Amino acid sequence: MTLHCENIPLARLADEFGTPLYVYSQSALTEAFQAYTDAFSALQPLICYAVKANGNLSILKHFASLGSGFDIVSGGELARVLAAGGDAGKTIFSGVGKSEAEIEFALNAGVLCFNVESLPELDRIQAVAERLGKTAPISLRINPDVDAKTHPYISTGLKSNKFGIAYADALEAYRHAARLGRLKIVGIDCHIGSQLTDLSPLVEACERTLLLVDKLAAEGITLEHIDLGGGVGIVYDNEDVPDLKAYAQAVAKLMAGRPLKLMLEPGRSLVGNAGTLLTRVEFVKQGEEKNFVIVDAAMNDLMRPALYEAYHRIEVVEPGNTAPFTADIVGPICETGDFLGQNRTLACTAGDLLAIRSAGAYGSSMASNYNTRNRAAEVLVNGAEAKLIRRRETIEQQLANEQACL
Ligand code: LLP
Repeated sequence: MTLHCENIPLARLADEFGTPLYVYSQSALTEAFQAYTDAFSALQPLICYAVKANGNLSILKHFASLGSGFDIVSGGELARVLAAGGDAGKTIFSGVGKSEAEIEFALNAGVLCFNVESLPELDRIQAVAERLGKTAPISLRINPDVDAKTHPYISTGLKSNKFGIAYADALEAYRHAARLGRLKIVGIDCHIGSQLTDLSPLVEACERTLLLVDKLAAEGITLEHIDLGGGVGIVYDNEDVPDLKAYAQAVAKLMAGRPLKLMLEPGRSLVGNAGTLLTRVEFVKQGEEKNFVIVDAAMNDLMRPALYEAYHRIEVVEPGNTAPFTADIVGPICETGDFLGQNRTLACTAGDLLAIRSAGAYGSSMASNYNTRNRAAEVLVNGAEAKLIRRRETIEQQLANEQACL
């Protein structure tokens, strides 16, 4: 059986658009978004898609059309949201190191709020707002000191992480914010990490954050919203992932009686399993100790395996009669870390197409030009229709900003 994206054979997409190629299913994007709105329907949350997971303009436009807001971490991501027709008024600006220029851009655009991560950042936002004669809506990102039990590089809610304001300092930070005349305190948020496969840390973080909401209310600081950060983990291999309905029910129970608007910032779970990276086998190299399937995609296209030893399922697009063998699936980049999968048993030969699954999140958005490789093209499939949503980069584009001066 040959693999498809919706109604289109992947092989046809590879022929038409070339490889390596990112392919996304529009209905999978819609379904993933609806899974959140359905599970959380009792709470009517504002879902702010985390642009960093995949910032392609067509994907942002699609989420905007479904009513999504956005979570951004740079002025560049804000520019993407605006270019895609997203609503700045539904956009949250997160991140530990916002520059003055980024704050100014966001204030002028009218973002919903700044998720603030330190006292100096509060002071910087106050200063920019003062200069512009504006009031800045702010929420404080509190570090709840909860272990998300995920990969250490993407765990963010521990005391030892750079993120958020320490739980013990939170009340004082709010008092400080309340004294700054150009800030309007609107909310509180936390984000404990990504690819969470266990529900309990998410619920614990919510519980600890709500405790602060109550303490603030007792001091006369009333919040309008609570933002629980990123979404749940996804299945790459055979992980158990949290059930959204169970998460929603736990949150609803904790929030009962508090007139707070709920916000969520899912990224991976909205796009991850909607995307595949298509790649063609260049050579099969039989080694003494190991076999290698050398493909035309590499760590510059999908760096998750190299960076986190992340697992992505790899399938042969049009299985033939070749005998299966075990090999590492590697790219052409000059590094041993350039692998897309290790010790996989596949039946493929040179010229075959492979589908690297679950590549919709943190795939193209983390791509680079390492080894002066052009970044891959991207295609969005809707039923029997495929739209090129990002042209393959060219070498001219790569060299455009450089000069051979000497
Ligand atoms: N909100 C904030 C403040 C975040 O830092 C993140 C992700 C999200 C939301 C979205 O989280 P999600 O729903 O996607 O779990 N490159 C890594 C993932 C880094 C995540 C960083 N923050 C990877 O490929 O696994």
